[in-house]
Amino acid sequence: MNDEKSTELLAGIAARRSCRAFENTPPAPELLASVLKYATFSPSAKNAQPWEVYVVAGERLDALRAKMDEAFHQGRGVPMHAGREMPAWQARARELNGALAPVLERQGWEPKSFIGRCLRFFDAPAAAIVCMDGEPSPLHLLDIGMFTQTLCLSAAGHGLASCIIAYTLIVEPAIREFLRLPAERRVMITVALGFPAKDQPMAQFRSSRAETGENVHFVRS
Ligand SMILES: Cc1cc2nc3c(=O)[nH]c(=O)nc-3n(C[C@H](O)[C@H](O)[C@H](O)COP(=O)(O)O)c2cc1C
Repeated sequence: MNDEKSTELLAGIAARRSCRAFENTPPAPELLASVLKYATFSPSAKNAQPWEVYVVAGERLDALRAKMDEAFHQGRGVPMHAGREMPAWQARARELNGALAPVLERQGWEPKSFIGRCLRFFDAPAAAIVCMDGEPSPLHLLDIGMFTQTLCLSAAGHGLASCIIAYTLIVEPAIREFLRLPAERRVMITVALGFPAKDQPMAQFRSSRAETGENVHFVRS
């Protein structure tokens, strides 16, 4: 065993789980600033740091939610392209949906309301909109993913819960318009942030993981 193992770091990695029910209490601006400061320690190819992040909270977030909701209900959503999904991934997605179903019920949420709730950032008091300029190259897409993960870990380190939300991209044009993004800037992913509503089922839900042997391959010979 490595004596230098950081149990705090490992506990932090394990503590970051998607939370879908939040307290109304808004995180203090200084707390959010610190979350974002640590998030920028994220690595990136050639240290390009290609993320452009918009942190929205309070009344501005309510206004953004309203605009996204309006676009969704007026049928102005754009389809999301998930790309080619391998059978094993599809099976895990089905497993996730199956595991979420009873939790949605315990929370008192209609299954059909789920996408709408994603578009409301699960009523979190803060959200980060992670954008990037130009045409995304695969390497810089990885940078955005790394940044997003580091952001969520940083949030966990500050006592905040998070949920990465891609469904919001179906109303990407409404987000772009609200944030008045320059033409070349695109919304890549969004993250709900806030204190977890700990007693609520959708804050307690824990997704499963494939057995390590299923998709981790130790090459020994
Ligand atoms: C790129 C990406 C997009 C995601 N989009 C959504 C989403 O739209 N709605 C949602 O509820 N969760 C979303 N999630 C959260 C995943 O469902 C979650 O990370 C996964 O089930 C593993 O659970 P955990 O984050 O609690 O460990 C997304 C996660 C990632 C990485």
